[in-house]
Amino acid sequence: MDNLIVRTTALAMSVTLSYIRKGDTVVDATCGSGHDTLTLAQAVGEEGQVLAFDIQEQAIEQTEARLRSRGISNVRLLLDSFVSMTSCLPENSASAVVFNLGYLPGGDHGITTLAEITLEGMDAALRTIRPGGVVTFVLYDGHENGAEEKRQLLTRAEELDSSRYHAAYVSMLNQKRHPPEILWITKKRG
Ligand SMILES: C[S@@+](CC[C@H](N)C(=O)[O-])C[C@H]1O[C@@H](n2cnc3c(N)ncnc32)[C@H](O)[C@@H]1O
Repeated sequence: MDNLIVRTTALAMSVTLSYIRKGDTVVDATCGSGHDTLTLAQAVGEEGQVLAFDIQEQAIEQTEARLRSRGISNVRLLLDSFVSMTSCLPENSASAVVFNLGYLPGGDHGITTLAEITLEGMDAALRTIRPGGVVTFVLYDGHENGAEEKRQLLTRAEELDSSRYHAAYVSMLNQKRHPPEILWITKKRG
């Protein structure tokens, strides 16, 4: 069993998976090299589907190769911004939307998620998840854009209507090397 407090990304995914059932529709907003996409595709099973976005061809290709090597075919890969998720899926349809922010590891560090666009992504994701679903953000504040992005996302999350949404935030308090942090938002059932 993973030591989940030490491994932030595993903690983020572990909680996310508790919201997902076989047959569900889920979104990987930033597929990168496809680790999360693969986990999500396995969680929803062949009867479910994953929509996976990235703005970089390199990321889409890496994800495609990872999925192909595992024989996974229930993923729609989209070379597009996550903001477009609302034109691909109806409102209240996904059980989870996952954002792993920042830049593609091993890729161009200049191509990164940006606060203003990620806020639009948050709005899109909150419309797309169904009641009882979850939006997960893995945040990196060790670089300049990331710190500003985190500040704006947390401010927006604090302002969300508490009768409709429940937001939770996890920070690793005594770690010196800026490990990622997690923001989860769930849409309450009517
Ligand atoms: C930290 S990586 C994601 C890692 C990935 N979850 C994995 O498991 O390998 C962040 C990714 O976000 C992508 N990205 C940046 N802005 C985006 C946007 N507006 N829409 C979709 N993807 C974006 C980057 O191209 C990069 O590949």
